[in-house]
Amino acid sequence: MNAMRDPAGIPAQPFVFQALMVITWALHIAFVHLSMGAAGLAIYAFHARSAGEHWARLSTSMTKVAKVGVSLLIVLGVAPLLFTQVIYDPQWYTSNVLSGRWALAFIFTLLLAYCLWYVFYESNRARAKRRVGLYAWGALLLFCLDGLIMHALSYQALLPGRWMNWYAPSGVADTRGATLHAIEWARYAFIMGLSVPVIGVFLIAYAHYFSGRRDCDVGYLVFARELGRQIAKWGFLSSIVPMLAWQFDLPPESGLELLPGGWLIVGALAIMGVWMRLPVTKGHGYLPIVASFMIDALLAVWREVIRVRYLKPFGYDIHSYRVHSDTPSMLLFFLTLTGIGGVVGGFYLTLLYRAGRTAGRYNADKPVRYLASGALSILGLWIAAFLAYGVMVSLRDGFN
Ligand code: HEM
Repeated sequence: MNAMRDPAGIPAQPFVFQALMVITWALHIAFVHLSMGAAGLAIYAFHARSAGEHWARLSTSMTKVAKVGVSLLIVLGVAPLLFTQVIYDPQWYTSNVLSGRWALAFIFTLLLAYCLWYVFYESNRARAKRRVGLYAWGALLLFCLDGLIMHALSYQALLPGRWMNWYAPSGVADTRGATLHAIEWARYAFIMGLSVPVIGVFLIAYAHYFSGRRDCDVGYLVFARELGRQIAKWGFLSSIVPMLAWQFDLPPESGLELLPGGWLIVGALAIMGVWMRLPVTKGHGYLPIVASFMIDALLAVWREVIRVRYLKPFGYDIHSYRVHSDTPSMLLFFLTLTGIGGVVGGFYLTLLYRAGRTAGRYNADKPVRYLASGALSILGLWIAAFLAYGVMVSLRDGFN
C-alpha cells in the first residue's frame, strides 16, 4: 500500500486532510440523511393524500426538499472524495478498480435516479395519478443502490488482506470489476437508516421556521411538528438496533468495541429518542436538528477511527505520508474556504433564511445588504488573486 502512494507526496501535514475529510463527510452524510428521509416521506405522504389536505401539501414540500437536498449531497460528496484520494489513495483506487463496473454504474444510476425524481416533482400535483409514485419509488431505490455502492467502495478499502483473492480468485486474474466484494449490512443499514429520525427532526425545524410567517397555516405546522416528533422518536430508538449489530460485527482483535466512539453513538441515539418522547413545545425549534448533526459528526469521527484501526496491522499510517510543503497553495485553499465559503456562502444562507420567513416580497435589510457587498467584493478579490497566482506560476515555470 505504501508503494502505491503518490510519489509527489502531499502539500501539508496528513492530519490537515484527515480533519477536512471527516468534517466534509459529516456534511455529505447530513444531506444524504435529509434527502433520503425527505424522499421516503414524500412518497409515503403521496400515497396518504386521500387522508387529508395536509398530507398532499407535505408530499409536495418534501419532494422539493429531496430535490434540493440531492444536489447538495452530491456537491458535498466531492470534498471528502478529494480528501480521501489525498491520504487514502492506495485503498480508494484499489477498491474502485476491484469494483470498476459498479463505480461507473454509480454515476449513471445517480443520473437516472435524479431524472426520475424530477419527473415525480413535476407530476406531484393535486389529482396526480397513483402510478406517478412509481417514478419516485424508482428514484429512491436507485439512490439506495448508490449508497450501497459507496458503502462497498468504502468498506472494501478497509480490507487489503482480501484484495488479492478478489483480484485473482484461485490465482486467475478477474479484471472485470463486476462484483461488489464486501458489504457490511449492519453498517449500511445504520448509516442509511438514520435518514428516518433526521427527517423527523427536520420537520420540527421546518414547523418552527414557517411559524414565523404571518401567512402561516397553524394547523398544518402543528401536524408537521407532531408527525416529525413521532418519526424522530421511533427513528432514533430503532436505529440503536443496527448500530449495536455494527458494534458486534467489528473484528474482536481490533479492540474497537472497547473504545468509547461507538457506545457514545448508541447513548446519543437513546437520549435523542427519550427527548423526542417529550411533547414538543415551541421552544424546541432547531435544537433537535443541531443535536442530530452532532450525531453525524460523531459518526464521521468514528468511521475514521475504524479505518485507522483496520489498516494499522497492515503497516499503513497516514502520518508517514511524504510531505512536500506548499504553503501558498494551502493559504489560497484556506482563504477560499473562509472567504468564499464563509462570506459568500454565509450571504446566500442568510438571504435565503430571511426571504423564506417573509410572506410576499422580501426587501433586504441593512445587514443583508452589507453582506451582499462584502460577498461581491470578496468574490472579485478571489477571482483576481486566483488568476494572478496562476499567471505568476505559469510565468515562473515558463522562464525556468
Ligand atoms: C444518492 C447518492 C448517495 C448516497 C445515498 C450516498 C451515501 C453514502 C454512504 C451511506 C456512505 C457511507 C458508506 C460507509 O461508510 O459505509 C457514503 C460515503 C461516501 N460518499 Fe456518498 N452517497 C451518495 C452520493 C455520493 C456522491 C455523488 C459522492 C461524490 C461526489 C459521494 C462521496 C462519498 C464519499 C467520498 C464517501 C466516503 C468514502 C470513504 O470514506 O472512503 N457520495 N456515501
